[in-house]
Amino acid sequence: MKLDRPIKVLVIGGGGREHALCWKLAQSPLAEAIYCTPGNGGTAKTPKVSNVNIDVMDFAQLCEFALGSAIDLVVVGPDNPLAGGIVDFLSNKGLKVFGPTKESSRLEWSKAYAKDFMSAHGIPTARYAVCNSFEMGAEIVAESPWARVVKVDGLALGKGVFVCQTDEEVLEALSHIFHKQRFGQAGEKVILEERLHGLEVSLLAFCDGRRLVPLIPSQDHKQRFSDDRGPNTGGMGAYAPAEFYGHCQADVESKVLEPIQQALEAGDLVYQGILYVGLMLTRQSCPNDNPEVPPGPYQPYVLEFNARFGDPETQAILPLMTSDLLPVLWACTEGALNKVKIEWSSLCSCCVVACAKDYPEGISSGEPIVVGALPDEVIVYHAGTKLTDGQLVTNGGRVLALTGLGSSMDLARERAYQALKAISFAGMDYRQDIGKRASHACQLG
Ligand code: AMP
Ligand code: GLY
Repeated sequence: MKLDRPIKVLVIGGGGREHALCWKLAQSPLAEAIYCTPGNGGTAKTPKVSNVNIDVMDFAQLCEFALGSAIDLVVVGPDNPLAGGIVDFLSNKGLKVFGPTKESSRLEWSKAYAKDFMSAHGIPTARYAVCNSFEMGAEIVAESPWARVVKVDGLALGKGVFVCQTDEEVLEALSHIFHKQRFGQAGEKVILEERLHGLEVSLLAFCDGRRLVPLIPSQDHKQRFSDDRGPNTGGMGAYAPAEFYGHCQADVESKVLEPIQQALEAGDLVYQGILYVGLMLTRQSCPNDNPEVPPGPYQPYVLEFNARFGDPETQAILPLMTSDLLPVLWACTEGALNKVKIEWSSLCSCCVVACAKDYPEGISSGEPIVVGALPDEVIVYHAGTKLTDGQLVTNGGRVLALTGLGSSMDLARERAYQALKAISFAGMDYRQDIGKRASHACQLG
């Protein structure tokens, strides 16, 4: 069914990604009204958008609201409701939902399953082994000097990955998971992986069950502190386009996207929504480090799949999409991606996350937020914010995401950082180097 009349949309979630989705969908002449559950202080102020205070895991109440409000399309933002089966639940009640089912989103909620999927379909990924006890993990480490990355199998808010340098660090991470049981059920199974070095790219693709259409490539900054120091987080900033992806695009298409496409065609993968492919582009180093011998070409490896839009990648990507997003999401649910246009501006974007001082361990709550005057080329997406008696206050770990736009990455970056000077809340912190890698990475080509 073609989308030929204005519709009501429900966006599920309340982070920066969902604010960006609401912001973009609200620009569509085909969006009559948008509801966001639970939303945040930013979605509350977005034209056409209303917040509805329902928890993302309360499927029964979400369903009652959607049916009662004659919602035409539900768009699911976060991973938890997907892994909990929200798409199955709402679809069974007759609602049209953008996003994969519980079984399909297993590519995200079980890293062991994702690795097996990649092995079965010949998709390049780092060597790995699976263990389910500290002892078993220690045995693998003793026999496999390549095992340097430790990942809990289940969902862990981006905190369940330990990239280690030594066996001792690997054992410490295993002890954290198995002895201290920091991750509960998600950590009952653990993947030990070879450590890869290279350039990371987040490649998101729309998927309508039959075909994949990639969005522009972007790059996240996972570590908490500048110069990639500190623990992994959900993401401290992102930029788009990640131009160095061009060095590898043909290989990614043939070695990664094509096998996924074949799996869709063969019915080995049933998938509708966004498929987020986290890639590492590695470059074989010169034999014996001989500077006379140029390094080999980039090779793509898949680090992870996510079954949803990335956060903060979405806040960097969507401002560059010139087409209407709503018909594209609709087309995904109709198996009709071939019928819609997906076009991009030639601008660059740089998104910097302003977070609580203690993030990712802690959050900020109830601190007043001041947002001064900002230029048109900067968009302020809200993540952990809420309106209390009309006052905007902090309400989470990642609080705001500022996206600067410009004709070059340097300009986009400069605008985002300049704008941060007009923003404040107690304990506000951000990385100083978001987007710096963009020009460096391009030179590596
Ligand atoms: P994941 O959730 O699997 O994408 O892992 C989170 C982050 O950990 C990635 O974005 C990388 O920065 C890092 N990482 C994951 N796997 C590896 C690997 N095999 N080698 C090096 N770094 C990795
Ligand atoms: N920024 C990484 C993610 O959304 O998983």
